[in-house]
Amino acid sequence: MRTIEWDAKGAVRMIDQRRLPLEFVVVELQDYREVAQAIQQMVIRGAPAIGAAAAFGLALAALRSQAATREELIRDLETAADVIRATRPTAVNLFWAVDRMLRKARSWPQPETSQIVAELINEAQRIADEDIQINRAIGAHGATLIEDGCNILTHCNAGALATVDYGTALAVIRTAHEQGKRVHVWVDETRPRLQGARLTAWELMREGIPMTLIADNAAGYLMRSGQVDIVLVGSDRTAANGDVANKIGTYSLAVLAKENGVPFYAVVPTSTIDLSLPSGDQIPIEERDGHEVTHCGDCQIAPQGVKVFNPAFDVTPHRYVTGIITENGIAYPPFQQSLRRMVHG
Ligand code: MRU
Repeated sequence: MRTIEWDAKGAVRMIDQRRLPLEFVVVELQDYREVAQAIQQMVIRGAPAIGAAAAFGLALAALRSQAATREELIRDLETAADVIRATRPTAVNLFWAVDRMLRKARSWPQPETSQIVAELINEAQRIADEDIQINRAIGAHGATLIEDGCNILTHCNAGALATVDYGTALAVIRTAHEQGKRVHVWVDETRPRLQGARLTAWELMREGIPMTLIADNAAGYLMRSGQVDIVLVGSDRTAANGDVANKIGTYSLAVLAKENGVPFYAVVPTSTIDLSLPSGDQIPIEERDGHEVTHCGDCQIAPQGVKVFNPAFDVTPHRYVTGIITENGIAYPPFQQSLRRMVHG
C-alpha cells in the first residue's frame, strides 16, 4: 500500500513507521488532531509524506466541520492548520501543503460548504498522486548519474516511506535498478531514530536491491578506501542558495565526501525548495526529546538523568553540494539561478 491514503469511509490510513521493520501495522485516523499527533510522534515522517499527511489532515478537518457557511468553514480550517503547522518545524512540505489546501478553500468559486469539503478531499488526493509522479520523474533524472556497478551511500530514509510512494533518493536507486544497472547501497543506520537501519534497509531488502547496513561512523572509512562512488540524500528544506537541511549527520557526510572527492547530491521535489529563505541559516532546526538519544527503542543506553542535546536536522552549506536532483532536472551551481529555474520552469 501507499505510505498514506484516503479511505472512502472518510478516514486517513497510514503505515505506522515506528513499528517497522518488526511489524507492519496500518493505523486509521478520523480527526485532524490525530493526524497532527501522528506527524509529531513520527508515525509518519519524511518531508513529502508529512506534506501529504498535512493535506489529508485538513481534508479531515473539513469533513468533520459543522460549519454552515464558507466563512465558518475557513475559520475551522485555519484552527486545524495552526495545530498541524505546530507539529514539526523543519520540513517545508508541511507548510507548503497547508497553504495549498487553504488557498483551495478560499478560492473555490461556489459558496456551498459541501462542495468545498469535496474539493478539499480531491485536492489532498491530488497532492498524494502528484507526489508519486514527481518521484518517478526524479528517479529518471537521477538515474542518469548512476553507472553500472555503482556504490551509493545514503542516510536516513528518503524512500517510499518518506513519500507517498517510490521515494526521492531511493527513487534514483530504484530507477537505476529497474534499468538493469547493478547497484549496491551503503545504508547509514542513522542514529538516533535509526530510519536507515529500520526503514531504508527494510525497503531495499523487500525489493532485492543489494545493500549493506553500516554504523554512521563507518562512512568516512568507506569513502577514504574508495568504496563509495556517490552520496544521495533527501532534504527537508533547501534554501534559495542551495544550502540543504536534512537529517542530522548529513553535513558530516557532505564534508567527508568533498574531502574524498565523492560527488554529493540532494534529491528533492521542488516543493522542498524554499526560495523565500536566502540561505540555510534561516531554516528552523527541530530539537527532539532527549529520550531518543538515551534510549535505543525501549532499551536505556545512557546513565539516568544525563544531559542531552538532540537536534533532528543539520544544514549542509551549498559549497559541499555537487547537485540537486528534482523532478524538473538536475540543478548545479550556481544554485541561486538553477534552483529558480527548477521551481519556475
Ligand atoms: O525525521 P525524519 O525521519 O522525518 O527525517 C527525514 C529526513 O531527513 C529525510 O531525509 C527527508 O525528509 C527527505 S525524505 C524524501
